[in-house]
Amino acid sequence: MSPADPIRRAGLHARLRAATDPAHRALEAGLDWQARVATRAGYRDLLARLHGFHAAWEPAIGAQLSDEPFLAPRRRLALLAADLDHLGLAPAAVAALPRPEALALDGPAAATGALYVLEGSTLGGQLIGRHIAGLHGLEETGLAYYRAHGPRTGAMWAAFRTRLEDFADDPQAETALTGAAVATFAAMRAWLCAARGLPATG
Ligand code: HEM
Repeated sequence: MSPADPIRRAGLHARLRAATDPAHRALEAGLDWQARVATRAGYRDLLARLHGFHAAWEPAIGAQLSDEPFLAPRRRLALLAADLDHLGLAPAAVAALPRPEALALDGPAAATGALYVLEGSTLGGQLIGRHIAGLHGLEETGLAYYRAHGPRTGAMWAAFRTRLEDFADDPQAETALTGAAVATFAAMRAWLCAARGLPATG
């Protein structure tokens, strides 16, 4: 890549987005979210699957990021549990939901790359949340995961992008960050798309 390359000049975020774009497209295509959320039961099964993913990845990210003030408002496991409760899944059943094994994240750069995927999903999630709200007559209750940061989505994303710049001058850190983001997308696709049509909550 030449120094004049527009993506190289544009900064770490642009490079990360370009590197993960195929994975985002593959996940978006494989997810088939409109069909899955068409019924309340389907929506609940998708949330159950997402619960498993967040249950595995949030602790893994937290352990390597070592920055709870930054991570805490971005954790969404409790929102998933609250939504599932509202949709009729008892807390004991939520706690027993299957979860994948998280990727081994080595250090804060890798943890930030994994968090990029979870945090970025709040962007498209706004659109998905509005769709579900209209379809199933839900407002905040039952929709907390997709609502996520709500009106603060733009501000939270801007703060996350600023955090990415911490790693911009360190090629080794950038490699770890990008690798973890690509691997997280792949793991999420395997976990969410493999479950298509398999009722997770009976
Ligand atoms: C769980 C699955 C998903 C994950 C993990 C995910 C992840 C991400 C990430 C990391 C970004 C940030 C890209 C950047 O750096 O600018 C993003 C942006 C975006 N995603 Fe997704 N995404 C998911 C599903 C979807 C779906 C199904 C849609 C379609 C409705 C979607 C639509 C978008 C849009 C429109 C943006 C850009 C928003 C903006 O720039 O304001 N995503 N997503």
